Amino acid sequence: MTNEPNKISSAANRRSFLKKGLGAAAAGAGVLGIGKPIFAQQPSSTLPAGDVAILRFLAAAEIIESDLWVQYAELGGIGNNLPIEVDPNQPLNPYQVALSNLDGDGPQYISSNTLDEVSHANFLNAYLISKGAPPVDFSAYKTLPGSTAMGSTGKLRLTNLMNLNVDTSWFIRYRSATNPNFGATYPQAITLNGVTAIPRSDADYLGASNPNFPGNDHIQAIANVAAFHFAYIEQGGSSLYATMSQKVTDPEVLQITLGIGGDEIAHFLEWVDFAGNGVQAPVAPFTDVVSGLTFRNFFKPLNPLVQPSLIFPVPCEFISPNLPHVAVIRPTVQQFSGATAAVNSFTADGLFTGQSQQFLDELQTMAIEADAAIRLI
Ligand SMILES: [Fe+2]
Ligand SMILES: [Fe+2]
Repeated sequence: MTNEPNKISSAANRRSFLKKGLGAAAAGAGVLGIGKPIFAQQPSSTLPAGDVAILRFLAAAEIIESDLWVQYAELGGIGNNLPIEVDPNQPLNPYQVALSNLDGDGPQYISSNTLDEVSHANFLNAYLISKGAPPVDFSAYKTLPGSTAMGSTGKLRLTNLMNLNVDTSWFIRYRSATNPNFGATYPQAITLNGVTAIPRSDADYLGASNPNFPGNDHIQAIANVAAFHFAYIEQGGSSLYATMSQKVTDPEVLQITLGIGGDEIAHFLEWVDFAGNGVQAPVAPFTDVVSGLTFRNFFKPLNPLVQPSLIFPVPCEFISPNLPHVAVIRPTVQQFSGATAAVNSFTADGLFTGQSQQFLDELQTMAIEADAAIRLI
């Protein structure tokens, strides 16, 4: 990752968090004229504090996911109105065509994934409220201008999708027999730095059409970037929920984290297949002369670490190197897939480029609190 303008060092963050926390507590004590910290004044939840912290961070992550998926759905989904009916008379825009080249049902899957994320965010916030805990609201941070291309509503956004550094190492990680839980690292399957995952304006739709290959190489490259980004986001959600589930106390909260986490895995699996279709015939190989991006055919030469047809997690080491390899979600340890790790990864991805420091501080504080949660036996 090279472009990390908003990356916060964990040390700096801790300082900022402590400063902010102390400041808030002092302010609360001053206003209320008592010596209790500010959080003691909030309505008490019936859930353990650690479970509330985990659910609040997951709600934050789902709001972030919802914001980015809505952008994808507006431009590349099956239609602008949710829920969505297929209209065979509705012509597809070039981005939808390019996504359809990766899977004929691609636009429907994008709309469905978006509905799922909105349902996750709404459910988690409603559940928090039902338990007397504060919900998460990032609406004040929807300040980023998004795409102006045909299809976009032009709304202000929470996340950036037009200048990303997409981490594609998941493509190799899930085909490897090693496990990041033990510190294994992976190279990028394809380098995607400073790229857009959505058409930024109608100019990105333009290009010569090939009757044998609908769309054009420029918008196809944008769709291919999106494909790798879809899977990057959803593998992150899969690992985050699997990691947080190990730390919750209340059985009902565990039911929630396992239930939603399973849906994140369902998303990830589809996008693994989808991204793989962008790096094999008939889509690849091709080069977009506008962006300079090249997508080669990953079958040539055949290398199991990037073989597109290997869509399920390849068995890897797990728990102990002495045990047999097993097909699992990974990573699943806090250092690599906890809340702070998720924030750092999303920041390195560029999702928060242009966001305010206040937003980053608020999110980081929630991540630190979620990571501090422990399961109470
Ligand atoms: Fe989600
Ligand atoms: Fe997701």
